[in-house]
Amino acid sequence: MAKPRVVLSHPMFPDVIEKALAPHARVAVAPTLTALRRELRTADALVTLLTRRVDATLLRHAPKLKVIGNVAVGVDNIDLRACAERGIRVVNTPGVLTRATAELALTLLLAAARRVPEGERMCRANRYTTWKLDLLLGKELRGRHAVLAGEGRIGRETARLFRGIGLKTEFITREDSENSIRRKLSRAQVLSIHLPLTDRTRHWLDGVRMRYLPGDAIVINTSRGPVVDERALTETLRARRIFAAGLDVYEHEPAIPKALRDLDNVVLLPHVGSATEATRRRMVETAIRGTLAVLNGQRPGNLVKLR
Ligand code: GLV
Repeated sequence: MAKPRVVLSHPMFPDVIEKALAPHARVAVAPTLTALRRELRTADALVTLLTRRVDATLLRHAPKLKVIGNVAVGVDNIDLRACAERGIRVVNTPGVLTRATAELALTLLLAAARRVPEGERMCRANRYTTWKLDLLLGKELRGRHAVLAGEGRIGRETARLFRGIGLKTEFITREDSENSIRRKLSRAQVLSIHLPLTDRTRHWLDGVRMRYLPGDAIVINTSRGPVVDERALTETLRARRIFAAGLDVYEHEPAIPKALRDLDNVVLLPHVGSATEATRRRMVETAIRGTLAVLNGQRPGNLVKLR
């Protein structure tokens, strides 16, 4: 039987592709939308990155497509309803990026609490001229109360790391009523967000909920940008109604509004939560393994439930 045709939306670690995919499939790489539309005409599977929006319009170019392997745990770049209607399966990369992302949440928290980027910018600009008693005063984290929105793998691992440095932790889960969410936010000296982006979580942290945060709060977001109302957060930080924020994700990535970039009390990173060499390789392997399993008629553990 002919090998299935698998299209990659971008180049991905050639040695991983060579080992994990090439023996089992005919592989094409289509890094532009035009090339992707052309390749999809005969493709059985697509392996894609989170930067490629896969919607009903794109799927119209893919009459034979059986499975999409998303090299990410979040699947908000894929129109799951359109996939369900077409009987296209989706697999993602749960588990393999849990630790890397949790470590980045902790990194952002420490950096925001101790104003690390401000100090770094000062040194690079040769503005460190005198040591002062009140130079770049931050917050000690031990004993502070951290609230984690989302009790999935990454939320739980982040909570473990936070407890490791002496924070107390509690979760906001799907079961919390609005009153209970607000009560928890009002004691969140640290709020770390670990929610998938869905219709229900868009602007989960909006301007109204933000008002409940205490004045010394630090907000960390390593999930998806649109889960936070970025404008409201910018205004909250600008007015110094909270202490700081650490962000790895943005509402309209890769754009970061100037108003946010202009603030000193926010740490900004370019969506690198899972960006360790080992993790990124495992993500590609996991997406490929799930994709091939579906093509072989199996139900892999990383099959995404189509809502
Ligand atoms: C990264 O953001 C992912 O969802 O894996």
